[in-house]
Amino acid sequence: MLTAYDYVTAKIVDEAGVPLILVGDSLGMVVLGYNSTIPVTLEVMLHHTKAVVRGVKNALVVGDMPFMTYTVNMEEALRNAARFLQETGCQAVKLEGGVTVADKVKRIVECGIPVMGHIGLTPQSIHQFGGHKIQGKTPEAAKRLLEDAMALEQAGAFAVVLETVPAPLATLITKKINIPTIGIGAGAGCDGQVQVINDILGSYTDFVPKHAKQYARIADIMSDAISTYHQEVKAGTFPTEAQSFTMDESILKELDK
Ligand code: KIV
Repeated sequence: MLTAYDYVTAKIVDEAGVPLILVGDSLGMVVLGYNSTIPVTLEVMLHHTKAVVRGVKNALVVGDMPFMTYTVNMEEALRNAARFLQETGCQAVKLEGGVTVADKVKRIVECGIPVMGHIGLTPQSIHQFGGHKIQGKTPEAAKRLLEDAMALEQAGAFAVVLETVPAPLATLITKKINIPTIGIGAGAGCDGQVQVINDILGSYTDFVPKHAKQYARIADIMSDAISTYHQEVKAGTFPTEAQSFTMDESILKELDK
């Protein structure tokens, strides 16, 4: 699974054969420049999810429910989850939390909306964690994570994201539950992996998380192309005839009399 936030990127990810595309609320940081995912609203997520769906032919598209759109009460959770499927055309939603949101997951699933869970370092609770810290290191925290994964499975989630948890714990959780685990900073023992596309392409350079591998440095390629364009415009070497349009000379002569 990879994230995508716009039509062009989603089309490339889909054509590359990636089977799951997450329109993550990480877009708050890597696209909109906030320092957390908390300011991202439902309207913003719906807008970007629609764009992604327009670019996708094969992958399953998962819309990420943003902060406080599924926790206030059951009715809001159901209505907001429904908006993703009805208004954007995506096929599933993701929400953060385990035992505490299991009742919401159960009802959303009962209404016919596939739900992906997300536990471990859940970025919408970043202020409770006090930063991007690895989760599940103590015996109590590890037990809680296993209980969260089991609660999500019981509630009917079709998969669960494990974010920033020790690799051996992620492997154990993967063994203990019967739905696929999708890891991000959770080692190779998960059933699948997810990454933020801007991290693996090297287009978001504010910081590179330890769990990400840069497969390219798109920021450098963009910077080189933009500088060359800027220099050529200043030097008058762009545009050339190849990028220009001609017209009937006699019309110009008439105008220039
Ligand atoms: O918002 C997001 O991109 C996510 C992934 C990191 C799992 O939730």
